[in-house]
Amino acid sequence: MAASEPWSPSSWKSKSIAQDVEYPDPQHLSKVLSKIETLPPLVTPSEIERLKYQLGLVQRNEAFLLHAGDCAESFDACTHENISAKIGLILSFSLILIWGARLPVVRIGRIAGQYAKPRSSPKEKIGDREVLSFRGDNVNGLDPNDRTPDPERLLRAYFHSATTLNHVRGLLTSGFASLHHPRDWSLNHVRSPSLRKEFEHIVEGLSDALEFSRTIGADAGGASFERGGGRGTVGEVDFYTSHEGLMLEYEQALTRAVPVGSVGQRKTEGGSEEKAFYNTSAHFIWIGDRTRQLTGAHVEYFRGIRNPIGIKVGPSMANDELVRLLDIVNPLKEAGRVTLITRYGAGKIDAYLAGHIAAVQASGHGVVWICDPMHGNTQTSSSGLKTRHFGTIISELTASSEFTGELNDEGFSVTECVGGSMELGEEDLPMRYQSFCDPRLNFEQSLDVAFLISNYMKKERRGAAPAAGTDVLYKELSRQSSQDDH
Ligand code: PEP
Ligand code: CO
Repeated sequence: MAASEPWSPSSWKSKSIAQDVEYPDPQHLSKVLSKIETLPPLVTPSEIERLKYQLGLVQRNEAFLLHAGDCAESFDACTHENISAKIGLILSFSLILIWGARLPVVRIGRIAGQYAKPRSSPKEKIGDREVLSFRGDNVNGLDPNDRTPDPERLLRAYFHSATTLNHVRGLLTSGFASLHHPRDWSLNHVRSPSLRKEFEHIVEGLSDALEFSRTIGADAGGASFERGGGRGTVGEVDFYTSHEGLMLEYEQALTRAVPVGSVGQRKTEGGSEEKAFYNTSAHFIWIGDRTRQLTGAHVEYFRGIRNPIGIKVGPSMANDELVRLLDIVNPLKEAGRVTLITRYGAGKIDAYLAGHIAAVQASGHGVVWICDPMHGNTQTSSSGLKTRHFGTIISELTASSEFTGELNDEGFSVTECVGGSMELGEEDLPMRYQSFCDPRLNFEQSLDVAFLISNYMKKERRGAAPAAGTDVLYKELSRQSSQDDH
């Protein structure tokens, strides 16, 4: 596939598609998609460009990227409580990071559209029955009797995304994100006294700093990070949405054209008639590890949209394949366009990450590197393995930060599954989807991770990053955790 071949929002249809969903009634699907095409965009091109600009800063190590949220959202979980707890956790997490790193944090939630799941097998056995695998709420039902793909679910996904996003926007513009009230975000979920104490320590330090800034009349800080002005980092924050761009029919239906130049995009060749295409279902979408074939439909769709995109990079990615993929999706080497989300698994990171980084550097592509410590470490576990699972997550995270710190000067950031999915293996998804929802425990584990990274960056900032990284940090964390009452 040459980057110069003509692209359109539907050109992916001529390519082979992985993880395809077959609808029994294609006419029904067309009708639903026509409806979605007429519905308003969920996010705007200028918000998308703003995120791309900010990811350009992350690429230059001037900001940190936090990508967090559920493995999968469900329609039933679209409630005030769930949404505000998730946003509160992400805000708390980012506050802890800002405290340690003294860098702005770009927040992207896996939220308001993270419904579709890739599966390793199209069918699964439940008892002695073989049924189609559960593919996420926008495709079929978790109930084994409701596994036939239903196009109406795409429409329901649109409306659940819109409702979620509306509530997120509402929370963020009505003081919920204000640094003057961080206690509103989360502490009800934190049972551990030592975590509470650490968080409160940060909040107190912050309140002092804010008061001091107000006294000397200098609390409009952060303006240089906020392109376009208007927002302060104190009262309101930027927050962006994302999901895996798996269901290409849906993504196509929400792809909208605007004239080039209207939202400050870089002009390419061509005249004033030229259109820029934005995926308006989310600010950021990513290509999963199972759908990143160079000549496949997903890569074809992704290469034509202007959004910043993510690409999952696992052990099966060859170095030259990674570079060819970057050439296809980012021929102009635009800053902020590509985020590589590494997910090797704690045992494999040493074998792959250095080679990937070296290949990308040699190609001249600039990317944002982030570590997803969840998807390479899925273990089906009896309850006794929980701690070890957490250990592998920490170990992949800390190993990534060492590698990226040693080998180049590009940003190290983190992506994380929080909420009900932290202990969820993909293969277990249908069986354990409900019973594994223990947001309290996961909430605390997430804050543990935030403190770990934050402390690491604080030490690094002071020129004292621990040399024997993984082990030392892991021990430090285990020590902290064992002192807690969780
Ligand atoms: C995910 O991020 O939810 C996911 C399925 O990841 P991966 O494509 O890396 O397996
Ligand atoms: Co997942």
